[in-house]
Amino acid sequence: MIDMYPFRNAVTVSHMMTEPYARRAHVLVDMTCGNGHDTAFLARTMPDDAVLYAFDIQPCAIERTRQRLQDEGLGDKDVRCCCGSHEQLLADVSSDVDIIVFNLGYLPSGDHKIHTNCEITLKAIKIGLNKIAINGIIMI
Ligand SMILES: C[S@@+](CC[C@H](N)C(=O)[O-])C[C@H]1O[C@@H](n2cnc3c(N)ncnc32)[C@H](O)[C@@H]1O
Repeated sequence: MIDMYPFRNAVTVSHMMTEPYARRAHVLVDMTCGNGHDTAFLARTMPDDAVLYAFDIQPCAIERTRQRLQDEGLGDKDVRCCCGSHEQLLADVSSDVDIIVFNLGYLPSGDHKIHTNCEITLKAIKIGLNKIAINGIIMI
């Protein structure tokens, strides 16, 4: 069935724009994995031999993301969930990165006092610009 409202919200639009890049990516990074929706989308879309890093500062977000990957049958994909602040974790990713995704804000159904921070996000974007592959994409 044709979706009458393809531009439902910002996340839907970001997935539509990211999909063609994810289909041919080798290394992908979800900078804020939260409840794992974006991570699951990337894991589902990427080639079987791609590597996806999923970062979040909250341990409960890492747990929720791992659980979602299992629930959606994506456990055999190479997804590396890491707890910490994304600007530090991204600095340790060595290869050229094809896709970097930021979904900013707080964790829905989590502690709303913990949220992304403008200065840290800008720092992470600068690190990302030095890591991004030719023809790669940073989606914010
Ligand atoms: C809007 S939520 C992400 C939603 C998620 N992408 C999803 O699909 O469910 C934003 C997330 O950013 C995380 N976050 C905030 N500051 C962070 C930082 N410095 N490094 C990594 N994650 C951070 C929060 O813990 C929260 O889970």
